[in-house]
Order: sequence, then structure tokens, then C-alpha cells
Amino acid sequence: MTAKILSGKDFAAQIKESARLEVEEIKNKFNITPGLAVIIVGENPASQVYVRNKHKSCEELGIKSEVVTMPENTTKEELLNKIDELNAAKDIHGILVQLPLPDAIKNHSEEILNRINPLKDVDGFHPMNVGKLVTGSPALVPCTPAGCLEMLDLAGIEIEGKRAVIIGRSNIVGKPMLHLLMSRNATVTVCHSRTKNLSEVTREADILVAAIGKPKFVTADMIKPGAVVVDVGINRIAPKKLVGDVDFDAAVEVASAITPVPGGVGLLTVAMLMKNVVKAVKLQYQI
Ligand code: GUN
Repeated sequence: MTAKILSGKDFAAQIKESARLEVEEIKNKFNITPGLAVIIVGENPASQVYVRNKHKSCEELGIKSEVVTMPENTTKEELLNKIDELNAAKDIHGILVQLPLPDAIKNHSEEILNRINPLKDVDGFHPMNVGKLVTGSPALVPCTPAGCLEMLDLAGIEIEGKRAVIIGRSNIVGKPMLHLLMSRNATVTVCHSRTKNLSEVTREADILVAAIGKPKFVTADMIKPGAVVVDVGINRIAPKKLVGDVDFDAAVEVASAITPVPGGVGLLTVAMLMKNVVKAVKLQYQI
């Protein structure tokens, strides 16, 4: 079997087009221009690329984009003050602090992210938004897992009743993915670094999600023939070579559908961020 390749490009374009129409409607009906502020602290090259892509997408869709660049030696207090300022700004509806933060303030990440007004928290990382997701009334949902789900839906892949296995338990992907898939009536298992007999568990999966950050960690023998494989990993193994968490060339022979890296779910993350900015406007104005 050779898997169907779920390319993110077309799906991302569809999602962005629907966000663009919503932005247009909000402008016409309510005279509001949705605004996103992205804060980047320091000079992490990967983060700079991600932030540039977010800015470009905003411009394409008619969303006002403010990129706040802060130096590597920014203190926690300076960053908190900036967040307070953006929380109060009337023309900013979404705030995102690009991660990872520099080493000097990294251990304050939680306090910093929690300072964002939950209604402007387009990353969906605030405990209030996490709680809403867990209790089944999601508001702003983390963009990457939301993008994975959207992609499965757009590809016509059924979720209800399926066995889903997630490898990785991060707050950004693994945990929200668990709740999203469970809310759609999948039976979900979350595996992590201490899971015993990992490949026995992963071979049970109808839908296998890899979100661990280890290049080509998921090998063909870990995949049930015919499974759908969603690869969330983005690992740089050489200056110009990105690979996922799945050994794509081998997995493509076993799975029924698979997302590539690059060009897979990564593209959906930015598209879902645009959707979240629109959603944030709607939550703030109750429209
Ligand atoms: N860095 C890598 N992924 C993400 C994300 O989803 N949100 C933020 N803020 N930073 C990231």
C-alpha cells in the first residue's frame, strides 16, 4: 500500500480563505479590523521564520499585524509590562508570545503566558482556555492540534470510534490533541518517554499522531497497516534539511494516509492562528 499524502498547502489555503471572508465580514458589519500582536524575544532563527510567516499571513488576510521585537536580555518585568500594554490596546485582539523564550527568562514562561488576557490568548495556552478545552466548552484552542483535527476533517477521515494514539504529552500538542480527539469520540491513548512496549501500543492506532521532536522516531514497524499518520515534528537535521518525527519514506508504504514534513500540518498552524484571531474578536465583542 502507498499512502495518500495529506499536503498541508491546499488545506491551509482553504482555512485561510474562510478566515479572510470572516475578516471582511467583521470589517464591513462592525467596522473592526482584527489585530494580532506577536512578541518575539531574542534572535532564535527558527522563531524569526515562524513570526515572519505569521505576519505575512495577517497581511494576506487583512488582519492588522504588530510584531514586537524585544532584545535577548529583556527582563521578565519588561515582558510583563509589554503584555499589559497589549492587553489594554483596543486595536489588538490577539496576543502571542513566540516560544521558546531566552534561557534567562525561560523558567518564567508560565507566569508570562498566564499574564495574557484569556480572551486575547490566540495560542490557547492560558489555564482558562486549557480548562475550557478539558471540560468540553472550547474557546481558543492551541493552533497546531486544532490544525491537525481540521486537516483530518477536510480530508474526510472519520474520527468517531477510532483508536487514536498520540506520542508526546506536551502542553502545546499532545495534551490538547488528547482532548480534541476525545471530544470527537475517538478512544485515545497518550504515550510518552516512559511508555513500555511503545510499538505494541502504536500498532493499535487507526490514527497515529507523532509529536515528540525526535527525527524519524516512528518507524514502519510501529504503524498498523492502513493507519492514518499525522506527523507534527519539525526537526532540522542539516542546515537545509527538515524531517518529521516519522520515517516518512518507510511509513508511506504502510499507512493509508500520511502528512509530510515539511509541507504538512505545519502550514495549518498559521492558518488556525488566523482563525483564532477572528474567534478572539468574536469573543471580545460577543458577535
Ligand atoms: N513555538 C513553537 N510552536 C509555538 C506555538 O504554537 N506557539 C508559540 N507561541 N510559540 C511556539
